[in-house]
Amino acid sequence: MSFFASKVKIDWEVDPDGLERHAECVAAKALADLQNTGIPDIPIRFSGEENLQTRSLPLEQHKLLLAHSISPLPLYKTLVLLDALIQDKNPCYEQYERLALAKALISSISNLYFGPEVGVGTIKKDAAVIEPWLKGVQTMVNDLKVLSDRDVPSQVLQGDARSLPGLLPRQSVDMVITSPPYPNEKDYTRTTRLESVLLGFLQTRSDLRSVKHQLLCSNTRTVYKDNHDDRYITDQSKIQELADSIEMRRIELGKTSGFERLYARTTRLYFGGMYRHLADLRDVLRPGAYLAYVVGDQASYFRIPIRTGALLASLAESLGYEAIGIDLFRTRLATSTREHLREEVVLLRWMGSK
Ligand SMILES: C[S@@+](CC[C@H](N)C(=O)[O-])C[C@H]1O[C@@H](n2cnc3c(N)ncnc32)[C@H](O)[C@@H]1O
Repeated sequence: MSFFASKVKIDWEVDPDGLERHAECVAAKALADLQNTGIPDIPIRFSGEENLQTRSLPLEQHKLLLAHSISPLPLYKTLVLLDALIQDKNPCYEQYERLALAKALISSISNLYFGPEVGVGTIKKDAAVIEPWLKGVQTMVNDLKVLSDRDVPSQVLQGDARSLPGLLPRQSVDMVITSPPYPNEKDYTRTTRLESVLLGFLQTRSDLRSVKHQLLCSNTRTVYKDNHDDRYITDQSKIQELADSIEMRRIELGKTSGFERLYARTTRLYFGGMYRHLADLRDVLRPGAYLAYVVGDQASYFRIPIRTGALLASLAESLGYEAIGIDLFRTRLATSTREHLREEVVLLRWMGSK
């Protein structure tokens, strides 16, 4: 989903007027289809009597959605719009129209809210779909008109940040600015789940599993038996001590749930994955390259502090990087300890292999 959205956002080649005309035709078709079933796009005021016959997603896809993330009626309208997009499909406009739908889904059609974690907020029984979608396309059209003369070449590559050499040429990168995962029990596939399912990127459980497999392990829901990233950090004493102390605390507290048993392994897999990324990256960096990593400290594993930034800086040094600083970006209040946790920017420099 992120790859798709990024790819569309940097492609300014489309004819904006053609896109607008096409989207208006699709909207008219979808509105007519809705009218035929007696359902208007404008939200219905429910009196409690309604028994509307709608259709839904295939069960397997439906099960991938976060529960109650979208109500049946807005879902139905979205499926009608998707049908209209398929029937009037135009390869020149398709990607913009699909991205506009993703945006409308998360901003107004669904019951989701981002605070900043994704969650289900007020459940609305109905919501307009065609109207906010068309407005989204019109916003794109206006942006494209403003940007049309600018020649700013950019490229988005899809890959796993732990294995880069096949993706990027040797010594081709001057700067890295990124916000990688932190060991924070956040399942990043949930953030984009609704639009990933509705746009068809995720159709089965196994699609979801294969996306999760490509992610750096940062939470107990993405710990897989065949992930061996922990092997890369067996001689990193600070990380080993940290993981051991988490496991010791678990035993002391008598905590035995499946997730709690995985905290120590998650910590090892996380830093092992970041080690792999930093190790692989060396080959594609040009000597003199600067790097900035935004990461946060954590205390969600039995309140044991994980100083992510400091640990990553020392991991990077062991790989030959210069750690040139750790800037405080902001602090966050940890709900478990009421302590302020640091969010930092770890600044590194790569001067080339010694
Ligand atoms: C802290 S979030 C940053 C999100 C992004 N900066 C943004 O503002 O939307 C970390 C991101 O890293 C992605 N990620 C996790 N493992 C990855 C991997 N192995 N390779 C590339 N990206 C990965 C996650 O999917 C997530 O979107």
